[in-house]
Amino acid sequence: MKNILWCTGHSLKVPDVVKAEGCFIYDNQGNRYMDLESGVWVVPLGHNHSAINQAIIDQLSKVTHCGYYNSSSVVDKAARVVLDITGLEKGRCIFLCSGSEAVECGIQAIHTITGKTRLLCLHDSFLGSYGSASKKQHEEWCLLDWTECRSCSRNEHCDPDCQVFSTIPFEELGGFVFEPGSASGLVRFPPPALVENLVRKIKSNNGLILVNEVTTGVGRSGMWFGYNHYQLIPDLVAMGKGLGNGYPVSALAISLDTARMLEEKSFYYQQSHQNDALGCRVVLEVINQLNKGSLVQRCADLGSELFAKLEKICRKYDFVREIRGKGLMIAIEFAGSGDQPAADIHDQLINKGFIVSLRRGHNSLRIDPPLIIEKEHLADFTAGLDEVLSCKAAI
Ligand SMILES: Cc1ncc(COP(=O)(O)O)c(C=O)c1O
Repeated sequence: MKNILWCTGHSLKVPDVVKAEGCFIYDNQGNRYMDLESGVWVVPLGHNHSAINQAIIDQLSKVTHCGYYNSSSVVDKAARVVLDITGLEKGRCIFLCSGSEAVECGIQAIHTITGKTRLLCLHDSFLGSYGSASKKQHEEWCLLDWTECRSCSRNEHCDPDCQVFSTIPFEELGGFVFEPGSASGLVRFPPPALVENLVRKIKSNNGLILVNEVTTGVGRSGMWFGYNHYQLIPDLVAMGKGLGNGYPVSALAISLDTARMLEEKSFYYQQSHQNDALGCRVVLEVINQLNKGSLVQRCADLGSELFAKLEKICRKYDFVREIRGKGLMIAIEFAGSGDQPAADIHDQLINKGFIVSLRRGHNSLRIDPPLIIEKEHLADFTAGLDEVLSCKAAI
């Protein structure tokens, strides 16, 4: 990798992957690794999926990209299925390439409608790699530190008059950008009553709700979307990652009322790869395959089983601080200083052929396998993890 500026914040562990199939990747040395990170959580159907490949090949021979003056029916069809799974049936969609773009487009939509540039989000949300969402500066963002709410004894009956709420200037805010599974906080779903109170307050001040489903969307949490774990109807839903199963496509789904307001305000958002036919064909096939295999339900069932197994294993080791999970998104947090022992355990797992995600600065590992993973493969992984943890305990 002499010619690549490696700036992902992660060290390169498998430098030459020559093949990827299902839950496995293979390197040029003939080593096989179980990918329990799904790339960067982007391949819910596994790598190199034949139906997705076929859809791409088929679409390549038709049209891949249109322009500002033309489109293709595949784009409208993809919008229809995206709106169906979000429950925003009569709404509209915009297709883009990355999760960051979908979130940013949603933020610009809220600014346009409300005329307010300051938005609310939870302090540990990750919203994207660029734009105002990446910087979260005070002028543009009101960050709610909900650490206290995690251990609040009134969690289930969150009081809207609680002093936590009194710090939020709701009337100044254009909306709430809610990231349900907290990518930075690592699979921490905030209490429903807290979120529902925030949504109510924002709505009563004419604000809009944008849900960032880039990580939690398209089945990962055992429901189609992370917000399905809450009683809320969003105005805008940003999704990416799993939506393309490795192909870079993302979407912003917009409710009908919100779309009408955007039309009235002549909302303007333009980029070259917007509503591309190829990406939309992939979206159609990804959602078709998720439906066909009932993979969202499979994710919920398999996730519960995996979580129970991991919890049992983790209980044996006092250096495991906490395990959290929903569907097939699970985080294990370790006690210790800096990134130890998580970084060591991460390396040991890779040596054994298991790739999980190391969250630097959090002493945590994240496990997000493809939704098609077989139980036997998960059994191999849990046995491998147990071995690594017991070696650590013996030191
Ligand atoms: C919660 C969340 N939102 C947004 C993004 C940005 O998505 P992308 O990397 O596709 O731009 C990510 C990426 O990891 C994410 O985890």
